[in-house]
Amino acid sequence: MASSRKLGLAASLLIASAAAQQPGAYTPEVHPTLISEECTTSGGCVKVNTSVVLDANYRWLHNVGGYDNCAPQSFNSTICPDVETCAKNCALEGVDYASYGIKAEGDTLTLNLFKTEGNVTSMSSPRVYLLANDTAYDMFQLLNREITFDVDISKGGCGVNGALYLSEMSATGGASDLNTAGAAYGTGYCDAQCPKQKFVNGKANLNNTYGACCNEMDLWEANNAATAYTPHPCSISGPYQCSDLECGAGDNRYGGVCDEDGCDFNPYRNGAKDYYGPGKTVDTTKKFTVVTQFLTSDNTTTGTLSEIRRVYVQDGKVIQNSNTNVTGLAVVNAMDDEYCTNTKEVFAATDDFKKKGGMKQMGDALGRGMVLVFSIWDDAGGGMLWLDSTTGEGPGSERGPCSLTSGNATAIMEQFPDAAVTFSNVKTGDIGSTFGKSE
Ligand SMILES: *[C@@H]1O[C@H](CO)[C@@H](O)[C@H](O)[C@H]1NC(C)=O
Ligand SMILES: *[C@@H]1O[C@H](CO)[C@@H](O)[C@H](O)[C@H]1NC(C)=O
Ligand SMILES: *[C@@H]1O[C@H](CO)[C@@H](O)[C@H](O)[C@H]1NC(C)=O
Ligand SMILES: *[C@@H]1O[C@H](CO)[C@@H](O)[C@H](O)[C@H]1NC(C)=O
Ligand SMILES: *[C@@H]1O[C@H](CO)[C@@H](O)[C@H](O)[C@H]1NC(C)=O
Ligand SMILES: *[C@@H]1O[C@H](CO)[C@@H](O)[C@H](O)[C@H]1NC(C)=O
Ligand SMILES: *[C@@H]1O[C@H](CO)[C@@H](O)[C@H](O)[C@H]1NC(C)=O
Ligand SMILES: *[C@@H]1O[C@H](CO)[C@@H](O)[C@H](O)[C@H]1NC(C)=O
Repeated sequence: MASSRKLGLAASLLIASAAAQQPGAYTPEVHPTLISEECTTSGGCVKVNTSVVLDANYRWLHNVGGYDNCAPQSFNSTICPDVETCAKNCALEGVDYASYGIKAEGDTLTLNLFKTEGNVTSMSSPRVYLLANDTAYDMFQLLNREITFDVDISKGGCGVNGALYLSEMSATGGASDLNTAGAAYGTGYCDAQCPKQKFVNGKANLNNTYGACCNEMDLWEANNAATAYTPHPCSISGPYQCSDLECGAGDNRYGGVCDEDGCDFNPYRNGAKDYYGPGKTVDTTKKFTVVTQFLTSDNTTTGTLSEIRRVYVQDGKVIQNSNTNVTGLAVVNAMDDEYCTNTKEVFAATDDFKKKGGMKQMGDALGRGMVLVFSIWDDAGGGMLWLDSTTGEGPGSERGPCSLTSGNATAIMEQFPDAAVTFSNVKTGDIGSTFGKSE
């Protein structure tokens, strides 16, 4: 999708060392190792030396050789009068991961919502991607396969979202002549909300016109009170630069290229209120394992995605996903197109999921390959009520037990400065190969 302007050979040689949204020279970028595993039914699991990289938007972007911010709020028009000059003039710096509240050790990654410098606590809300090596993201192709991880969300309360999801970013982060930093510096983010970012497809988004859209599969959006898994298909493939109505902003939410709502499976919303939470069937006061399986129509990796299943494991016990328990909904514990159509009807919601291609479209993205994203955030605008509290009225309005005021971001920082999520043991493999079947 990225169509970077081709530089002539002479020009590219001339500015070869300073031609792009480029690596900075002040802080070396050292990717924390996060070991993952690949599993097969026949061969068991093998460890892989993957690592994580902080998203580019969190980094200092400054003029080459100087200390001026290229885009303090909007772009500085002296440094960035146009896309090409901006790429030539601006560098992205390496980061000290600990200072962002990010800690990786072995197979375990902890993300803190807040960072503390001196005695001052402030928002960090880090977002990192899994790298296959220092220049490419690990591309997850999950059709007829499963992905499994352990999570400790005991320190993420109401209003917090410790998320693990897949976005159809490019493997190189959109590396190009204009973006030599690439995946090594966490470039190329996109998701189904089509966020406006400083760079889109490797090019400076000088007047904030463009958004970065792509297919998104939310494996895990959760705190210790509520959880959901949610495919968000888009009518486009790969990272896509949207403008105007295509970005689906404001009144045009359902007119953009992506399904911003998605089709969610949230046990509480589906009427199983005692299933997930502190002391419940899946007990969020302690660590547990989350398995997500992507079944296809013909049980092959080239088939059409037909069903997304969820299983938990805690204290060595396999726990099946909760059944739906809502009048009018068929009783199921997994998601397929029929489930999505039914819930949209029963919950009186717009069915943008179907309009954007449903399971098939999501599956096509999973077949092409997607990037694994780890994040923690709170929601100053909406209080995360869509995940853990009540929005509107009628069936489906109660998504979790949290109060309408619990998502107040200022209050969360005051009361829960240690809010965090820990992910560990990320494994992918054949269906049934990544988790124990004991008991
Ligand atoms: C992973 O890293 C360890 C430690 O650096 C090394 O010993 C091992 O050979 C690496 N494994 C692979 C598959 O690269
Ligand atoms: C924009 O960048 C120029 C050149 O580095 C600098 O002199 C100026 O102070 C910057 N302006 C702002 C508003 O930061
Ligand atoms: C936005 O920025 C681009 C690239 O510099 C420029 O060509 C275009 O005219 C600008 N659009 C507006 C509306 O300012
Ligand atoms: C932190 O607070 C303590 C107690 O108020 C004070 O003594 C110390 O100097 C502060 N440290 C920093 C780095 O501000
Ligand atoms: C990094 O990984 C990608 C994807 O697996 C691969 O294509 C590329 O050759 C690797 N690069 C290096 C330098 O190992
Ligand atoms: C199903 O819903 C009913 C009525 O809301 C409730 O009483 C019951 O406990 C629910 N069953 C489960 C397994 O959550
Ligand atoms: C796919 O596998 C499932 C479960 O293992 C089985 O029930 C189903 O019949 C298989 N479908 C096809 C088309 O082979
Ligand atoms: C959010 O919490 C802060 C700090 O406790 C409080 O001052 C503020 O009034 C709250 N905002 C709302 C909308 O309740």
